[in-house]
Amino acid sequence: MNWQDQHVIVAGGAGFVGGHLVRAVLQRGARVTVLDNFHTGMRDRFAGVSNARLKIVEHDVCAPIDLSCDLIINLACPASPKKYQAAPLETWRTSIFGAVHLSELALRQGARFVQASTSEVYGDPLEHPQRESYCGNVSFTGPRACYDEGKRAAETYLMDLHREVGLDLRIARIFNTYGPGMALDDGRVVSNFVVQALSGRVLTIYGDGLQTRSFCYVSDTVDGLLALAETDDCADKIFNIGNPKEQSVLDLANLVAEMTKQDLSVQNGPAAGDDPRRRCPDISRARAILGWSPKVSLEEGLRSTLAEFRGRLS
Ligand SMILES: NC(=O)c1ccc[n+]([C@@H]2O[C@H](COP(=O)([O-])OP(=O)(O)OC[C@H]3O[C@@H](n4cnc5c(N)ncnc54)[C@H](O)[C@@H]3O)[C@@H](O)[C@H]2O)c1
Repeated sequence: MNWQDQHVIVAGGAGFVGGHLVRAVLQRGARVTVLDNFHTGMRDRFAGVSNARLKIVEHDVCAPIDLSCDLIINLACPASPKKYQAAPLETWRTSIFGAVHLSELALRQGARFVQASTSEVYGDPLEHPQRESYCGNVSFTGPRACYDEGKRAAETYLMDLHREVGLDLRIARIFNTYGPGMALDDGRVVSNFVVQALSGRVLTIYGDGLQTRSFCYVSDTVDGLLALAETDDCADKIFNIGNPKEQSVLDLANLVAEMTKQDLSVQNGPAAGDDPRRRCPDISRARAILGWSPKVSLEEGLRSTLAEFRGRLS
């Protein structure tokens, strides 16, 4: 793919991952149009970016849109449980109607379509680590279902569109991604710990802290999404994009405390509803077909995250 010839639509581009992805795509020389309704995105996300090839359009992906484009990357959807549980109907509509309207636009334009799906499609997994073939263990009426099931239904629709009418499709099942630029009130575990530690507050662990996650630094996730967009020959359409190093939430708390030179003082809160016990991607498919694997260690990623959050908090 020659990025300089590409007009790329990034839906949800004013969000956390979008902010990094849009900058990376601009750096490759493409033209970028961000579509965002700023539900969880930041209006000043690109305040420091002066680039005539970047256009920002306020648009809710639940409505159709017509624009010329060569590639659509659909990130539009609140990703933090705190944010999507506060707006379950909107989350559900965004997942489904956003995927429908944007994929139809891709078909009309002959554009490639990259969908940001999620490890949440595996629910509270009974298989470990999770391969793309695993069908998951999702509570479909629980408090996370608007997001988990919304993303699953979007995958169903997109796979049918690919099989029936040849949508040029890639689906990234993204696992917990963290890094600079997350909203201070994001509510996910890394940003919670970082904000609490930097403010000298007690770190709150929901549940016993033995639940595991696999934390992927945002530049690695962005590289994975770009590799997916660039790779022409992929018979498989669905790829886990995440860091296979599994950590307990308690280990993460210890590391954040150590790096911020705080005595670890943990307050255990009630476990979140339907919180998965273990989460770890099998990334052999992405390694083999995309030649992608994460490069940034948790310590390195946390160092950059702490530095950027420290700047915003002061
Ligand atoms: N960050 C992660 O750990 C993670 C993990 C798995 C999947 N993902 C997926 O990656 C994508 C981006 O995640 P993020 O962490 O950047 O989330 P985010 O909440 O920071 O960004 C989402 C963006 O989508 C926009 N948006 C929401 N509803 C919209 C609508 N109806 N119309 C237009 N724009 C809308 C928001 O305003 C925001 O800018 C999401 O689709 C998410 O499901 C992220």
